[in-house]
Amino acid sequence: MIYRMVCEACAKPPICVFDSGIGGLNLLYECMRRLPHENFAYFADNYRVPYGNMTQDELFGLTCGVFNKMQRLSPAAAVVACNTVTALCIDRLRERYPFKIIGIQPAVKPAAAEGECIVLATKATAESGAVEELVKRFGRDRTRVFQCRELAAYIENNIFSLDEKAVSDLLPNVKADEVVLGCTHYAYVKNFIKKRYGCKIFDGIIGTANHVAKIFGIESHCATTCRKISFFGGNTVKNRTILKFLIKEGANYFALKR
Ligand code: DGL
Repeated sequence: MIYRMVCEACAKPPICVFDSGIGGLNLLYECMRRLPHENFAYFADNYRVPYGNMTQDELFGLTCGVFNKMQRLSPAAAVVACNTVTALCIDRLRERYPFKIIGIQPAVKPAAAEGECIVLATKATAESGAVEELVKRFGRDRTRVFQCRELAAYIENNIFSLDEKAVSDLLPNVKADEVVLGCTHYAYVKNFIKKRYGCKIFDGIIGTANHVAKIFGIESHCATTCRKISFFGGNTVKNRTILKFLIKEGANYFALKR
């Protein structure tokens, strides 16, 4: 737990949140709600989405490019708001960079505790050793992982006009008691997925935001209004617009219409 007793919001280093594109804005939003006095910087790479069909070396190369820029801000911590990068690169990132790096993982443990569960993820995440290990440890022999190769790119490219049928066509045709969202982009179509499978949905966003909040604690004596949210890389106009929607609508993703 990090305590800071002095009000210095404008000067203090930001918590840097990173995703390939818009998916991580969900996690940024949840972290902002929990830590109203922290500065945040959002790093995205929207023009290269999807990351989920890349190899580990490609991903690591791109992510290091982003992390090198991040390092110049002397971040309070980096939050990898991307299941794909967490699954394939987090150990290598932790070896290379001196600051604290927090990742996100599919919420297999709570979901599998309740019944037959499916994990929806990118190709790279689904094929990763990290997710195989997670399923082996917490999946209770009733967890299956499915790749949704085109879903993240569809969401990234159509965020203001998401279509229920188009999303449904990109989902595996299986039955489940629980669905785990193994990609932060999928949160924007949570309600479509819930309807499609008729069951409870789990994602790692809330758990990760709670973890970040626990590390930073609640700050004292600092005006919310003086904190800074900055954007780096990718399509800043789009990312900023979506974050404004999330703040205004309280993560009611269906409201993302222009
Ligand atoms: N949002 C990312 C994830 O959580 C990756 C999406 C993509 O770029 O394929 O896996």
